[in-house]
Order: sequence, then structure tokens, then C-alpha cells
Amino acid sequence: MELKGKRIALGVTGGIAAYKAAELLRLLVKQGAEVRVAMTEGAAHFVTATTFQALSGQPVFIDQWDARMPNAMAHIDLSRQVDLMIVAPASADFLARVANGLADNLLTTMALARACPLLVAPAMNRQMWENPATRRNVARLQADGIGLLGPAVGEQACGEVGAGRMLEPEDIVEAVQAFFTPRLLAAKKVLLTAGPTFEAIDAVRGITNLSSGRMGYALARAARHAGAAVTLVSGPVALPTPAGVERINVRSALEMQTAVMARAAASDIFIAVAAVADYRVANVAGHKLKKDAGGIPALELVENPDILAGVAALENGPFCVGFAAESHDLEKHAQAKRQKKKVPLLVGNLIQDGFGGDENRLVLFDDHGIHPLPPASKTTLARQLIEHIAHLTGVA
Ligand code: C5P
Repeated sequence: MELKGKRIALGVTGGIAAYKAAELLRLLVKQGAEVRVAMTEGAAHFVTATTFQALSGQPVFIDQWDARMPNAMAHIDLSRQVDLMIVAPASADFLARVANGLADNLLTTMALARACPLLVAPAMNRQMWENPATRRNVARLQADGIGLLGPAVGEQACGEVGAGRMLEPEDIVEAVQAFFTPRLLAAKKVLLTAGPTFEAIDAVRGITNLSSGRMGYALARAARHAGAAVTLVSGPVALPTPAGVERINVRSALEMQTAVMARAAASDIFIAVAAVADYRVANVAGHKLKKDAGGIPALELVENPDILAGVAALENGPFCVGFAAESHDLEKHAQAKRQKKKVPLLVGNLIQDGFGGDENRLVLFDDHGIHPLPPASKTTLARQLIEHIAHLTGVA
């Protein structure tokens, strides 16, 4: 429920992507937003007002003279009582009208009368998007402070391929969540590790840790929403890259260390969430070890470098945050790790509370003491942790 309490006006214009606006509305409502929908007559050719009414639980407006508005001022009421106006899909015609300050239907009048920010998600044929008139209109909208979401590049309903597809509803929701997040880490560079590492035994086998990567990915996303430039050095996980985050895929601890050390000095904040394997195999077989080769193979292990401790030891290095996943005696082990690795903030959790799932329970250990966070989703905890880091680094 990241959008709980947020009031949003969703405008829908005429285009085949209008059917996706229904899914966008559903996702916004699911996140707790209160959404009022206004659509153009063109949009009503693609999706009915009933669909949006059912999904929002609110009356839907098309006509600016709609008699259901007691004061006959739908454009004022709908655009003034909200925190944000989104138009998705935004047709070329709509962009042109708003860029020129026209107010000839309910949606364009709302766009002109609004006191809140406006985000538009354009959707049109690629030639229309590339047309100099559209380029001019988009430049003017951006100069006026209107936020542009997309468009995406890909297959179009007309069969052509190019720029002009509406962003997927999930991506628009992501942008809306980012919009409502205070920019606590604006202009900061955040480097993170996430997921497990995989240490090869032979060509097909290896040693690894159980780690879904979810906590690290949630933190990367939260840091991005807070305005940071985020680089995520990730071990092998099955998760999509958060929007706007630079992701570097690695496999072993040594690869992770190389990727991190190449970027650590230029970062402001380093958050080590990865479950790095403590040991790697010294005698890695280049081929697949055969069971019938005789005898049980002996693995010779060597210790992996401690990536976090290495970054924490850098002179003028980034503010370092470590994680400790423990099965018992959380405080004792977490405090010991904080001291050993010399990091100002260590985040402890019990593996039985968070492993693999979407929820977790975190305890923060820093110079000021111990701060337990109430159990919550990894998304919520990530946001709280980013706020705590911003506070400790003096930017909030
Ligand atoms: O594995 P351990 O409990 O020591 O991990 C504590 C912290 O140190 C975590 O933040 C982890 O990402 C980091 N770490 C590391 N390199 C290692 C081992 C752990 O960066 N080789």
C-alpha cells in the first residue's frame, strides 16, 4: 500500500493503449491510492466508463458539462482535489493541446486548471511520435514542468516497431511511487550488492548461499526512488532489474569484489546485502567431475575476501552499511560484525523472519544504539532503511 492516502486523477485519452489504463487503475487502487478517472470521448470508443467506475469505485467523467457535478465545474473539482494528475495513454492530440494551453474538453481543461503536478504517458504510432510537431510539443511540455513517462520502444498495435508504445502499467505505477518519495538521496551515488554468490566446484556444480536477493533489490529500488544514482552488483537471482538502476551481474565473490572495488571510491553510500560465500574452491575442475572416477573428491577451500570490510577500510570511502542474517543471538552477532567490519550501520535480521519471503523484521545497530523496525514488507523496510541512512549521512 505504498500509495495509501494519495489522491490521483487519472486521465485516459483515445488510443488502443486505453485498455491498459484499466490495469493501471487497478494497480493504483491496489497500492491504496484514491483515483478519480476522467476520459475523452475518444477513449470511450476503446474502453467504457463502466470499467473505470467499477475499478475505482467512483463516478467517471467524460463531459465537462456533466450535470452530476453540483457546481458544474468538473474540471476544477477533479483537478484541484488531487495530489497528482496522470494521463495514460496520452495521445499526440492531447499532448499538442496541452502544450498550447488549449482547454476544449474536460481533460485538457483539467490539465490547464490543475494546481498539482502532471505526468503523461504518451502512446502513439512511431511516426506520430517522431513527427517534428510532436517533438516540439513534448519539449514544450517538459519545459513547462510536465513529467514524461516513456514512451517505450517495441511492437505497436499497427504492426510497426519503434518508439511510441505506452509504458506498461507496472512501470507507470513504479514512476508514481517514485514521484511521491522524498528525494532524500538526490545527487548521491549508491552502490549495493545483493543475492548470493556462486563458487564453482567444477563445470556444473558449485557452492552457494540461500538468498533470494529481494531485500537488496528492494533497497536498490528505494534508493532510486529517493533520487540516488544506483548501481547494483548482483549475484545470480531471478529478479527483474528495478527501473532506472544500473545492474552488474556477477557470479563469484571474487567477481563481486572486482565489480565493487572498481566503483566503491566514487560512491557515497555502499550497502552490502549480498550473502557472499565465505569460501571458494581452490582446485576447481574445468570439466564435470565424474562419480565413477574413483574415490570421493576432496574440495580444498580458501577464504573469500570480505568485500564490505575492504570497502569500509578505504580512505575517504563511502558510508558503509552491512547486513547480518543470523539464526540466533542476533544482537551479539550483529554487534560483533559491526565492530569487526568497522561499519557505522549494521542491519540485523533473523533468517527465520525473512528468508526468501516478501516480509522481514530488521534491527538497526549504529552509534546511537539499537533501533528495531516493526515487521513489514521488504519494500516498506527498504524505504525506512533508506530514510535512516539519509539521516545518518546528514542529508535528512
Ligand atoms: O557473511 P557475513 O554475515 O559476515 O556478512 C555480513 C556482511 O558482510 C553482509 O553485509 C555481507 O554482504 C558482507 N560480506 C561481504 N563479503 C564477504 C562476506 C560478507 O561483503 N566475503
